[in-house]
Amino acid sequence: MARHLLSLAEQTPEELRNILDLARQIKLNPRAFAQACAGQTLAMIFQKPSLRTRVSFQTGIYQLGGQGIYLGPTDIQLHRGESIPDTAKVLSRYVDGIMARVFDHAHLEEMAEFGDIPIINGLSDLLHPCQVLADLLTIEEKKGGLKGLKLAYVGDGNNMAHSLLYGGAQFGMTVSISHPRGYAPDAEVVTRAREIAASTGGAIQITEDPAEGVSDADAVYTDVWASMGQEAEAKERNDRFKGFEVDAKLMSNARPDSIFLHCLPAHRGEEVSAEVIDGPRSVVFDEAENRLHAQKAVMVRLMGR
Ligand code: CP
Ligand code: NVA
Repeated sequence: MARHLLSLAEQTPEELRNILDLARQIKLNPRAFAQACAGQTLAMIFQKPSLRTRVSFQTGIYQLGGQGIYLGPTDIQLHRGESIPDTAKVLSRYVDGIMARVFDHAHLEEMAEFGDIPIINGLSDLLHPCQVLADLLTIEEKKGGLKGLKLAYVGDGNNMAHSLLYGGAQFGMTVSISHPRGYAPDAEVVTRAREIAASTGGAIQITEDPAEGVSDADAVYTDVWASMGQEAEAKERNDRFKGFEVDAKLMSNARPDSIFLHCLPAHRGEEVSAEVIDGPRSVVFDEAENRLHAQKAVMVRLMGR
């Protein structure tokens, strides 16, 4: 497979299929993979906070026989101006892989260019591929497949929306994004997702009407209205996103057997009602668990012996 995991647009559908299949095997029989990354070290760079990504990667590499080193926002010299190339070159002399959560996606590409080891995107301003691998694993577990299903994302055209567009397109799904005016997904990402969908039998729909977006969906997805780093815009966004809350009324447009997903952390009463996220159609904690299994599969593929 590709040497890095920066974007779900850079893998072939077969490579992504293999990761999901391996994730399922690892989930079923974790002990069989206890030495899959024996003696390997993963550096985990975080420029932003994290619960799921941090704990699932650190636990995951440990369960594979390796170790993770957490490098928080002020732990290394990046925040004092050391360059990304120098950081990546130095880490390449010590460790076997880097997982990084960064503000600027270009910094991940720079790490991949200047380092000699696999780089895994643990969330950037543009994309969150590891989350979407876990999401797809979850949908497949609950629905028995992916191809031909409709995945409806409601809200901000952000990193989650972008990775769902790529990931859903790769597996031949119909991905709909409904967003308030002014918060559309990146046009280049949409174009690339449409190209991928054209080759897999998938489809991409973009709308400003959430009821239309969610109509007949098999899976409904939302994310916070203000992402990490956008805290100053939170109040304005709360006003602009009115009508985009995933509540029972909006869910009634989806298929009766539809499931609800959220990458978490969630804000009940903003992007999702408590009734929906804590209700019977919500699979958010299976989704969070699947981060562990999906990322172990990624590490075995990229770093495994
Ligand atoms: N979903 C997700 O990436 O969560 P964290 O920000 O807690 O890692
Ligand atoms: N869009 C959110 C996702 C958090 C997992 C953010 O970037 O903060």
